[in-house]
Amino acid sequence: MTEAGFETAETEHGPPRPAVPAEQEAREAELLERVVRSFDQCRDPRLKQLMGSLVKHLHAFLREVRLTEEEWAAAIGFLTEVGHITDDRRQEFVLLSDTLGASMQTVAINNEAYRDATEATVFGPFFVEGSPRIPIGGDMSFGATGEPCWVEGAVTGPDGAPLAGARIEVWKADEKGRYDVQYDDGRSAARAHLFTDERGRYSFWGITPTPYPIPHDGPVGRMLAAVGRSPYRASHLHFMVTAEGHRRLVTHIFVRGDELLDRDSVFGVKESLIKDFEKRAPGTPTPDGRRIEGAWSQVRFDIVLAPAGL
Ligand SMILES: [Fe+2]
Repeated sequence: MTEAGFETAETEHGPPRPAVPAEQEAREAELLERVVRSFDQCRDPRLKQLMGSLVKHLHAFLREVRLTEEEWAAAIGFLTEVGHITDDRRQEFVLLSDTLGASMQTVAINNEAYRDATEATVFGPFFVEGSPRIPIGGDMSFGATGEPCWVEGAVTGPDGAPLAGARIEVWKADEKGRYDVQYDDGRSAARAHLFTDERGRYSFWGITPTPYPIPHDGPVGRMLAAVGRSPYRASHLHFMVTAEGHRRLVTHIFVRGDELLDRDSVFGVKESLIKDFEKRAPGTPTPDGRRIEGAWSQVRFDIVLAPAGL
């Protein structure tokens, strides 16, 4: 088979790769075998499996593309930069995983579909432990700017039974497309948690989602530019929902009509998570009687949790 000017051959591990002389092939295979065997004494069977498989796939990649030494050095330099720019407020490794689809693939593997359970999507790099608690009907914005959005729904198990006391974490970028942790002033805004009532219901005031780019002033941004990809994410609101005896759900809801839905930079969009954010004109009475000067929006998101231990 000829592909992109290379003679290729089927391989035991991974995709076809350029054919090389038999002696060279044997030398490369022998090295791989020695590396795989180096894990033979590993006492942890899962670690042994992970390392062996990782090495097989890594070597398959190197041999498939016939990586040059300059490219190897560039890759090491890139990963070094990813490490250097990462700190407790910026997680470039998560961005790299997200933009390569590795995060969504891991989410897919670990959240197999279960009846009508709400689908999961990427966690993203902006969740922070210790968000303030708000009451049902409270406001998660804490001063973050943006069009107010009334969010309501219920949390149930797959049998439709309401889950009282389910913990809902929500977090969001402001209207400028920035999360609180992306500012240098140590603010905490547009993140909160609340608990469902005895009938599994919840509601809160948030901010109507708007599109934003993932941080693209670092090595991941340069990678996206080099391959002609946009750093923009489809507009979304993050949720993490936990309830005893149920699988933790990490997800977003997306805005129907958003033009970025089909080119989200981290591949997070799922049809079932696209919701109608209904626009309300200035002066429209609000569900809780709150007075709002300008326009606002309203969305309903009912959440179904799968049982734990699937
Ligand atoms: Fe986000």
